[in-house]
Amino acid sequence: MADNYLEKRMEEFRSVVGSAPAKAKGSLSSLLLKNRSTRGFDNSFKVRKDQLMRIVSVNNKIASARNRQVLRFSLVTEERAHLVLPHIAMGSALSEMKLPLPGTEPNAFVVICSVCEPHASTYVDLGISVQSMLLQAVEIGLNGVCLMSFDKERIKENLSLPYEPLMVLAIGKSAENIRLVDMPKGGDCNYYRENGVHYVPKLSIDDLIIE
Ligand SMILES: Cc1cc2nc3c(=O)[nH]c(=O)nc-3n(C[C@H](O)[C@H](O)[C@H](O)COP(=O)(O)O)c2cc1C
Repeated sequence: MADNYLEKRMEEFRSVVGSAPAKAKGSLSSLLLKNRSTRGFDNSFKVRKDQLMRIVSVNNKIASARNRQVLRFSLVTEERAHLVLPHIAMGSALSEMKLPLPGTEPNAFVVICSVCEPHASTYVDLGISVQSMLLQAVEIGLNGVCLMSFDKERIKENLSLPYEPLMVLAIGKSAENIRLVDMPKGGDCNYYRENGVHYVPKLSIDDLIIE
């Protein structure tokens, strides 16, 4: 897709190589930094259906294995949140905290299903979809967390889903203070909380690259 946008960005990138990375508002790096897995929400803020629609709308613009587009999405707003909330598990690394804390529960969800028996490429599609949706959520001022720990059978039955659910996204307005921190060499990758701040250790770029 050769267009002026891409050419312009390429020129800008060339001109900043060697200097500090761009952190412009709305840039991919700023969306990625704000896209933290959020497990505590401002409960007074009710996520609307049109906001969930906007988030799910990324899905006809993304890659899909053989372009088969096997994923389908169930939008759950406040009225039906009670059908999902008791059947999800958040923050297993902080199990003693029993997240979400009372009063900070999410009131909206996107339940992602596959129309076919899932195989390896379905899970790759799922990852691309989920990350794209979470970034879109950040772009419209929301946050979320993708959940693989949930009661599939119960949620399928409660929402009368025609397909097996693969993942649940909890979406809302964040009430959390989350910070990325460098992971010490040989350190623990588990997230942790101190004085109300949720810390997420990440590997350095040097540790990620294989020589
Ligand atoms: C495939 C996958 C499954 C996940 N399942 C859960 C889950 O069931 N419950 C939960 O609280 N977080 C879940 N998470 C969120 C991770 O715990 C989170 O990505 C990690 O702690 C790093 O935090 P960050 O997303 O803010 O970088 C999942 C993430 C991924 C990618």
